Amino acid sequence: MELPFAESWKIKMVEPIRKSTRQEREQWLKSAHYNVFQLASEYVYIDLITDSGTGSMSDRQWAALMLGDESYAGASSFFNLKNKITEITGFPYVIPTHQGRAAENVLFSYLVKEGNIIPGNSHFDTTKGHIEARKAIAYDCTIDEAKDTQLEIPFKGNVDPKKLEHVLAEHHDKIPFIIVTITNNTAGGQPVSMQNLKEVRIIADKYNKPVLYDSARFAENAYFIKMREKGYENKTIKEITKEMFSLADGMTMSAKKDAIVNMGGFIATRLEDWYEGAKGYCIQYEGYLTYGGMNGRDMNALAVGLDENTEFENLETRIRQVEYLAGKLDEYKIPYQRPAGGHAIFVDAMKILTHVPKEEFPAQTLTVELYLEAGIRGCEIGFILADRDPITRENRFGGLDLLRLAIPRRVYTNNHMDVIAVALKNVFDRRDTITHGVKIAWEAPIMRHFTVQLERL
Ligand code: F0G
Repeated sequence: MELPFAESWKIKMVEPIRKSTRQEREQWLKSAHYNVFQLASEYVYIDLITDSGTGSMSDRQWAALMLGDESYAGASSFFNLKNKITEITGFPYVIPTHQGRAAENVLFSYLVKEGNIIPGNSHFDTTKGHIEARKAIAYDCTIDEAKDTQLEIPFKGNVDPKKLEHVLAEHHDKIPFIIVTITNNTAGGQPVSMQNLKEVRIIADKYNKPVLYDSARFAENAYFIKMREKGYENKTIKEITKEMFSLADGMTMSAKKDAIVNMGGFIATRLEDWYEGAKGYCIQYEGYLTYGGMNGRDMNALAVGLDENTEFENLETRIRQVEYLAGKLDEYKIPYQRPAGGHAIFVDAMKILTHVPKEEFPAQTLTVELYLEAGIRGCEIGFILADRDPITRENRFGGLDLLRLAIPRRVYTNNHMDVIAVALKNVFDRRDTITHGVKIAWEAPIMRHFTVQLERL
């Protein structure tokens, strides 16, 4: 008999989590104005609000912390980190930052000017924010197939080469660089193929434009290339990531995801002018160039995390867990963005809560119901997060309305996945009784989802 699959690690340290009663949850969520961002984490049983900064570090990472060099300038921890990044990506220039959006802020302070257009595949919110705050446009070139949640294709995060070519042909004088997000978080943690990265490179070269990768989940992307793309099945993850980055000029990184640290990020590039141009902003906003907002010990742990999480077994354990949860949802016929993403399942709320009109925010309603059902905290990636149109001030109902269940790395077991699936099934089974959603009582002008106050209808 073939042995079943099991995790590539064992557990050395545990953190107790607490169940609660429905009555308690009703009360807590009401006080939080039906916004799960406003809940204290101790009121949460299984926390799927994000996979960012919520992973478990390994014993090697904890050991590396103890060897952190906290020198202000020239710390050995910086060189450990820099050498590891150069080894994995091939990029010689490295600027550390305290997280991913800080890397964007530093680099875009140099690169993005008013009136620019930055084409890419579903820019992440902070990326878009840093572009729009500079009065530039984040122009989406994601393939149209990404919008059909039930369509199953292997690389649903891809850039549409035709859309990219079109915007470059029309506006090349306004485009400072192209950005590719790997994996494509907003489209459902969907990967980008090596073929597509090559196509982007060819178009970029034709117009003489540099290419930047938003690399928060680059290792998961490499895993999908190995599993799904012809010619890569026998390559190691490190060989694949090296090839991916050989097609780019630089990267911004939120190390809180695929480098499995609680805080950290960086910029890496092969372009001397990007490094020279951005480094002053690092000093201004983040800190001196050999720490950029991070402790020495954290840079050490980051270097180890990057090394470990570009190994196949670690990624296989992680992504098979997400697929395990997806398999359960298939069993219960619960619709989600197919195929399952690398870091999360994105449940299609509009296909479940068909009686809740979009004006009453189906995905947020589903988020509320799942928390009340079992104390599981997901996150709305839908109409509330989409904010209002800056000009008309109307809600933006054009995109998808999803409940994201982000799975932290190396944190929960498949027993937890079973609980999540059954809790969602219970909500799914009574979906026809859910006829009312939520309404906004108070909201901030931008990024409203973090602080929005809601009322249940
Ligand atoms: N790029 C992508 C693709 C991201 O998913 C994130 C963060 C960032 C950049 C910004 O990085 O948080 O370190 O400043 N995503 C988190 C999430 C917050 O929940 O998906 P950061």
